[in-house]
Amino acid sequence: MEAIFSKIQEVQSTAELEEIRILVMGKKGSLTARFAELKCCDAESKKMLAKELNALKLRFEKALADRKEVLSLKELEEKLNAEKIDVSLFSPSNLKGAHHPVMLMLDRIVKYFVEMNFSLNVGPLVEDDFHNFEALNLPKYHPARDMQDTFYFKDGKLLRTHTSPVQVRTMESQQPPIRMICPGSVFRCDYDLTHTPMFHQVEGLVVEQGKDSVSFAHLKFILEDFLRFMFGNVKVRFRSSFFPFTEPSAEVDMSCIFCKGSGCRVCSHTGWLEVLGCGMVDDNVFKAVGYENVSGYAFGLGVERFAMLAYGVPDLRAFFESDLRILEQFK
Ligand code: PHE
Repeated sequence: MEAIFSKIQEVQSTAELEEIRILVMGKKGSLTARFAELKCCDAESKKMLAKELNALKLRFEKALADRKEVLSLKELEEKLNAEKIDVSLFSPSNLKGAHHPVMLMLDRIVKYFVEMNFSLNVGPLVEDDFHNFEALNLPKYHPARDMQDTFYFKDGKLLRTHTSPVQVRTMESQQPPIRMICPGSVFRCDYDLTHTPMFHQVEGLVVEQGKDSVSFAHLKFILEDFLRFMFGNVKVRFRSSFFPFTEPSAEVDMSCIFCKGSGCRVCSHTGWLEVLGCGMVDDNVFKAVGYENVSGYAFGLGVERFAMLAYGVPDLRAFFESDLRILEQFK
């Protein structure tokens, strides 16, 4: 037994300590076996033996507990040291940024038109009524103004509801030929699965001197070619439509890239996705900027809509909620 007490002092881990406990006090332990001897002797020696064994047991338990306390502390210390982290350490490797999916899409759109020799233009986000509406053949009280849930300021200015006012500003400051696109943010008072109060559009405008220089065929070619650049070999159709600033006007559909035209949830089982608005610039717009004897076309598209389709994102709001789990998928 004394050997065991010195062994207790020597062990270096609580696990080894537990092994000793089992050897001595476990079901088949040496001390447990000695307690069994109590059954087979007379009352007097039983008393003596019990006293001796109980004292031994107490001493053993105490030695065990004392050593355990020392070893536990030592082990805790070791564990803490091993798991030590320097919270003040700056790690730039975890903070790599990435382009936002909407900007990725915008870059790709801009790339196409720049390669097609369009110049890039910008205009103010806070617009006046003349550029956002009036000059675009949308006089006051025109019912089409209701389509664009406008944010107004007290002084009558407004947040532009589309990028079309940049058409007007470009024509005011430049003479034809014009071949430009204008990417930028626009604002409408709307918020649901497919609308956010701020989103991005790309506007396109081509104007040439001469009444018949630019035709609908030019417009059709460039938009078809553009959509195939963006989405691969899609079918494209022009559906007659209305915009106050273009005449004739069309909405452009492409065959659904998810079901290849056979009908699915994304295309509302029509096989077609609406992706662009376009048309030949209305004469009233040319009049408003003082242009004569010209012809031209214009188009507009929503960048978020393109990004939702290209990346298969079902809820537009995902682009604006800054959830890293979503954004990091575009690294
Ligand atoms: N400005 C239109 C819109 O916001 C899009 C458009 C632009 C349509 C140019 C025709 C020509 O819906």
